Amino acid sequence: MTATIKTADEIDKMRVAGRLTADVLEMIEPFVQIGVTTGELDRICHDYITVQQNAIPAPLDYNGYPKSICTSVNEVICHGIPTDIRKLKKGDIVNVDVTVIKDGYHGDSSIMVEVGEVASHAQRLIQISQECLYKALDIVTPGACLGDIGHVIQTHAEKNYYSVVREYCGHGIGQNFHEDPQVLHYGRKGTGLVLEPGMIFTIEPMINAGRRHTKLNQKDGWTVSTKDGRLSAQWEHTVCVTEDGCEILTARSNEGF
Ligand code: MF3
Ligand code: CO
Ligand code: CO
Repeated sequence: MTATIKTADEIDKMRVAGRLTADVLEMIEPFVQIGVTTGELDRICHDYITVQQNAIPAPLDYNGYPKSICTSVNEVICHGIPTDIRKLKKGDIVNVDVTVIKDGYHGDSSIMVEVGEVASHAQRLIQISQECLYKALDIVTPGACLGDIGHVIQTHAEKNYYSVVREYCGHGIGQNFHEDPQVLHYGRKGTGLVLEPGMIFTIEPMINAGRRHTKLNQKDGWTVSTKDGRLSAQWEHTVCVTEDGCEILTARSNEGF
């Protein structure tokens, strides 16, 4: 497994794409409310990205994907396709995943949003999955390796009796939406690619309340759900390895990094 080292000029462009991605998530979060459809959320994001940001929503037409964002509700793990058919209802948990291309470079990030009042077990899943991401970000520094990232995520999830999805992972990112290396969310300390300054990749743990197994919707070819029908949660950031740690390119203002 390899990873390209981005130049200072490329990192500048990734910083811009990451900022725009974070801006979309901050813009859309207040719209995620009881009664809205995920199709409406998709249109709002599409228009914001194309008109306000003069940028490109990367998912649209990516390998045939039909919409501009992914919206994954409750037992949907990832790649949920926005639809006008169903309205969000009280107690739903929604992952909104946004990828923006600006000046040829990608930013990729996702958040969980609670719709109205949410069951405490669902709130807890959302919180622990965010802690999994933050604990991973904490250890990203030159000399650490990818296995360390997987290990810290898996340990925190399993300590809380949750499971880690295996079939989907984080990824290198730059001029490509998805490039080497694969960033697994499980693994062993001290294994895998050793991190170096200038590497840019996503960390995006998918954490299930029940068992880890997934099923792909054969009709739409995209929607990935938990096999057991229980809840799943995911948070994602794009990060750049620096000389002494990492820079979170998609940091939002409410995160205090
Ligand atoms: N944003 C997702 C990721 O984090 C990928 C979505 S691919 C799409 O890698 F085609 F479904 F948009
Ligand atoms: Co990603
Ligand atoms: Co994403």
